[in-house]
Amino acid sequence: MSTIDVELVRSANATPIEVTVALMNTSAAKKSAGLLLVLFPFTHLPGPLLQFAFGLVKSNLMHLYLDAQDTGWSARSKMEEMSDKDGRYLIAFKREGLSEEQASKVISHTDYTPLDSDTPVGYLYYIICMQDSYDDCDGGMGGDGKAPVIYCMELQMTPDARNLGLGTAMMQMMEDVGRGFKLRRGMLTAFKKNEGALRFYKRLGYHPDLTSPSQCMSERRAGRYSYEIMRKGL
Ligand SMILES: CC(C)(COP(=O)(O)OP(=O)(O)OC[C@H]1O[C@@H](n2cnc3c(N)ncnc32)[C@H](O)[C@@H]1OP(=O)(O)O)[C@@H](O)C(=O)NCCC(=O)NCCS
Repeated sequence: MSTIDVELVRSANATPIEVTVALMNTSAAKKSAGLLLVLFPFTHLPGPLLQFAFGLVKSNLMHLYLDAQDTGWSARSKMEEMSDKDGRYLIAFKREGLSEEQASKVISHTDYTPLDSDTPVGYLYYIICMQDSYDDCDGGMGGDGKAPVIYCMELQMTPDARNLGLGTAMMQMMEDVGRGFKLRRGMLTAFKKNEGALRFYKRLGYHPDLTSPSQCMSERRAGRYSYEIMRKGL
C-alpha cells in the first residue's frame, strides 16, 4: 500500500468540513430544487438525523437485503456501517420559505440552525478510505491493489424527493470532493436486483470494478452474489 495514498486519505479525513463544503459549492452540479443541503461529519450528526437515515434505507431497501441470501438484513451491522467516524452525511431538507440564496449552496453543519419546518428528504453518506480496487486503466493500482477512493455508502431519497435531480447532484458533489482531495476513484455497491439504481449509476459513468463478483469469478459463482461493486475514475 503506497504511503502517499494512505497520507492522501488521512489528510482528506482530517481536513476541516468547511473545505469540503467549499469543494461541493464549486461543483458544476445543479443545486437541488428548493432544498437546503447541509454537510455533517458523522461525529456531529444529531441522533434524530441518524435515525432518519437508518429508517430511510430500511424502508427503501430492506426487501432487497432480505431477498439476498449472501447478505440478509441486520439492523446492528447496518447501523455500524452507517456510523463510521470518518463518514460524512450530505442531507437535503425541505424548509418552508427557503430563500433562493439558501437553496443555491451547501452549508456546513456549523452554519445550520434547525427550524421546526425542516424535513429531511434524502441523503448521501460517504467515506474516504483505502479500498481494494484492481484496475489499471484509470491511473493504476498501487502495490497490493488498494486505492484511495471516495466511497458512496448510501444514497437514499424519500419517494417524493426522487427524480428531482437530487441524487445526480449529490453524486457529482461527492465526486468533486474526491477530485479536490486527489482521490483516484468513486465507488459504491448496489444490489443487482436494484435495476433502477444500477441504470442511474451507469448513466453517471460507473461500471463494475474488477473486484466485483461479476468480474472476478466464473458466472456460476458470481451468480451467488447479490451485489455489484461499481467504480468511476475521477
Ligand atoms: C436511486 C436514487 C438514489 C436516485 O436519486 P434521484 O434523486 O431520484 O435521481 P435523479 O433525479 O438525479 O435521477 C433520476 C433518474 O434515475 C432513474 N432512477 C433512479 N432510481 C430509479 C428506480 N428505482 N427505478 C427506476 N428509475 C430510477 C430515473 O428514471 C431518472 O432517470 P431519468 O431522468 O432518465 O428519468 C433514488 O431513486 C432512490 O433513493 N431510490 C431508492 C433507494 C435506492 O435504490 N438507492 C440506491 C442504493 S444503491
